[in-house]
Amino acid sequence: MNPEQIAANKDAFGIAGQVAVVTGASSGLGRASAISLGGGGAKVVVNHLPASAVAAAEVCREIEGLGGEAVAYAADVSDEDQVAAMFADSVARFGTLHILVNNTGIQDGAKFQDMTLAQWQKVIDVNLTGMFLCSRAAIREFLRRGPQPEVSRATGKIICMSSVHQVIPWAFEANYAASKGGVHMLMQSLAQEFATHKIRVNAVAPGAIRTRINRSVWETEEAMRNLLDLVPYARIGEPADIGHAVLWLASDLSDYMNATTMFVDGGMSAYPAFRGAG
Ligand code: BGC
Repeated sequence: MNPEQIAANKDAFGIAGQVAVVTGASSGLGRASAISLGGGGAKVVVNHLPASAVAAAEVCREIEGLGGEAVAYAADVSDEDQVAAMFADSVARFGTLHILVNNTGIQDGAKFQDMTLAQWQKVIDVNLTGMFLCSRAAIREFLRRGPQPEVSRATGKIICMSSVHQVIPWAFEANYAASKGGVHMLMQSLAQEFATHKIRVNAVAPGAIRTRINRSVWETEEAMRNLLDLVPYARIGEPADIGHAVLWLASDLSDYMNATTMFVDGGMSAYPAFRGAG
């Protein structure tokens, strides 16, 4: 579905008027998630770093072009004060919050023996501590507001962007894989802790999706051939593949989904090297 089709069918998703914060929404998977939710009629806070203000404004314009409402907000998700301010300002502007997409993620790999503490720390701070800070802020608001059954069956929905590397070990990217393993247990622990409050917490685990983060694995024909050896479905993923999963997880269509990771990876996590081998 393209964003216009989502917008034309927004009644099917039932998220119109709900408020969503999407972190790292100026590009890649965050952008696609924000546009899907915005197309579905959610009011979207498009979080970004200051350097990506132009791209974030463009995402807001796209959402407005679909008839939605969006506001760009610069904040570093690994900074406690900036996160607190972003959620306070979002609630002040839109009244409350219904959906958090914890998307922001970075890679900064190295041979393990050469990995600096700064490299380790930065990836853990952004990918994992960022999700802690944003989830805590969102949950505080969900608990403060309480149920709104006329809006959604769930009091709040949190969607964490994980990765196939929450289960597939990744040499030279130990910090990234460790952060995503952490995301998995953070997501499940929150789901377990808040299920009785009707707060749903799930994750999306993308495989190889065509974004800036992994340009080197798809930009040449040879790289793409090598990549597709790892993808049984024989195509690279597109950001919209992830946006669609996020839209569904944010809607009541997935109301009985909790504590689950949806792998959106063309089968990458199904050990394709074992096809006819082993
Ligand atoms: C990484 C990408 C990689 C993909 C599959 C993602 O989590 O960010 O760089 O292509 O996993 O390995």
